[in-house]
Amino acid sequence: MAVNVPASELEALQALPAQDLLAWAVERFHPHLKLACSFSAEDLVVLDMLTQLVEAPRVFTLDTGRLHQETYDLVDRVRERYGLEIEVYFPDFGAVERMVREHGMNLFYKSVELRKLCCRVRKVEPLKRALKGVKAWVTGLRREQSPTRAGLQKVEVDEAHGGLLKLNPLADWTREDVWRYVRERNLPYNALYDRGFKSIGCAPCTRPVGPNEPERAGRWWWESPDTKECGLHVRS
Ligand code: ADX
Ligand code: SF4
Repeated sequence: MAVNVPASELEALQALPAQDLLAWAVERFHPHLKLACSFSAEDLVVLDMLTQLVEAPRVFTLDTGRLHQETYDLVDRVRERYGLEIEVYFPDFGAVERMVREHGMNLFYKSVELRKLCCRVRKVEPLKRALKGVKAWVTGLRREQSPTRAGLQKVEVDEAHGGLLKLNPLADWTREDVWRYVRERNLPYNALYDRGFKSIGCAPCTRPVGPNEPERAGRWWWESPDTKECGLHVRS
């Protein structure tokens, strides 16, 4: 759903701290505002901020069917802590059946094309459904996470999804900022972080990283760094 925010207002929003940007978005768009939540530490920071602004923020998660058990455990802990309904989206089962019959259960290891096909079927298509009727969506993306995210804006017009607004309130946060907030607010977090994981996606496509490795080095670790996006955050 395309939204019309004047360019001068968009420009002013880029300078707002995360809480203020979210307050503006809630005021303006709730209940047509949704948080995309993979249950990363970043997403839980944003979720925690949203719960301080509105009683029942809308939160969706894309369950690819291949997530870690630790992630599912966290989904339930979050549901209970905040008393929230999480909008869970699954991939189209017919598309998954066709894909794995043709290419195998572990197709993602065979080629970049098949890995991207799997991400498309399990994440990108469900995201389109999750965003139907939405005016703005919120992510936990940060610039520091990877070179491909270095130019991230806090507020973007998401042309890839029909011109709705995409808000990245933590764009200028560091990893330390995130974990400081998690500790201060005693937020629940994915148990995998205590086992060397720094960025958590699907189980077969995520591994822990060493202390000196970049934080997304454990995602699709067998691919070269320039292919490492799953298609959720394409620009056009
Ligand atoms: S990804 O594109 O490589 O998967 P990453 O795991 O860094 O991205 O997450 C970036 C942001 O994308 C998250 O903060 C969240 O807003 C959104 N996101 C990623 N995966 C999911 C998911 N499975 N469900 C909902 N949102 C997601
Ligand atoms: Fe498939 Fe791996 Fe992408 Fe998950 S991250 S959708 S398992 S290719």
